[in-house]
Amino acid sequence: KGIPTLFQPIQIKDMLLKNRIIVSPMCMYSSKDGYMNDFHMVHYSQYSRGGASLIIFEASAVCKDGRISSADAGIYMDEHIEGLKKIVNFIHANDTKVGIQISHAGRKSSSTPPFLPNARRTVALEDGGWEFYGPTEIPFHSDSKLIPHQLTIDQINEIIKSFGQAARRALEAGFDMIDLHSAHGYLLDSFLSSTSNKRTDQYGGDFNSRIKLLLDVIKEVRVYWPISKPLFVRISCTEWVENGWTLDDSLKLTEILQEQGLVDLIDCSTGGNSQNQKITVGPMYQVPFSSEIRQKSKILTSAVGLIKNAADSEEILKQGKADLIMYGRPFLKDPYFGHKLASELGIDLEVPIQYNMTRR
Ligand code: FNR
Repeated sequence: KGIPTLFQPIQIKDMLLKNRIIVSPMCMYSSKDGYMNDFHMVHYSQYSRGGASLIIFEASAVCKDGRISSADAGIYMDEHIEGLKKIVNFIHANDTKVGIQISHAGRKSSSTPPFLPNARRTVALEDGGWEFYGPTEIPFHSDSKLIPHQLTIDQINEIIKSFGQAARRALEAGFDMIDLHSAHGYLLDSFLSSTSNKRTDQYGGDFNSRIKLLLDVIKEVRVYWPISKPLFVRISCTEWVENGWTLDDSLKLTEILQEQGLVDLIDCSTGGNSQNQKITVGPMYQVPFSSEIRQKSKILTSAVGLIKNAADSEEILKQGKADLIMYGRPFLKDPYFGHKLASELGIDLEVPIQYNMTRR
């Protein structure tokens, strides 16, 4: 029998992935002033021996006040490049590709990391928080007295430029791909939805105005990120609320992104923009969104969310529901999760030469 689909290579622009196993971006809230450090070196490097073909670094802020918390990773200063490059080089030496998710947290900025008291709540100025911004003055936490400022057009232009500069730094650091974060209620996502974007200028109102910021950011990113290099966009395919952003909107957006011709893959997640979301969570619950988008628009997609074993992963790929599978928590639990998937399919992955006991 042939190689299981999960272990078949795929070429996306100039990036050749040795299999379909991807480490999903996951914030570690372990940085100071945006810098990645020894923690990140160990954390990300371990996955380069764990069987994944591509590791995507956590949401990294494109500007200082676009961090979710003060402990976020950042790519908003040229000084961040050196630390990133060191980890990238190490991962490359282990025959693994590496990408970075670039993000602006919008109205979810100035928050507490999820593992500290008052998790995810907005931090006030006097407690070390900062002024934060969104499409409109609607806070994510409806009971919060801390309100985002509505971005002015000048500020929007600055943010668009920041995404471009982040892409320039990502190139300099040697990343193979960029995942643009337009999901989970962060800035770009919050502009997409009419529940959070009540603007009446060119960036709000009808569908085309609400998606304009994302399109502008993609254009700016492509000024610095060569067209030969893969650009993924993570979207929340549905907001899981009535009258919010829906799968139909995502399909419409994908069609426009394809016309624009600058994006290579839709990274299909959901939710995170509304406290009123009603999600039925279960195994592979987000796969149908990836499936619809891939089948209707013929663009590449990745699926993520409670995909936990090789048999399910194989089915998703074989049935054409996604091109790549991203795994988050499974890799947190077991850095060698890729080897586990392999052994479930009867494949023996190579281990680093230092660990290969049969050679001794
Ligand atoms: C996440 N997730 C996430 N998503 C994202 O787009 N950017 C991010 O920085 C993070 N950060 C993050 C941190 C931690 C600790 C977890 C567990 C999750 C979501 C993640 O990428 C993934 O989509 C979900 O975890 C669902 O996949 P799993 O974990 O069920 O495989």
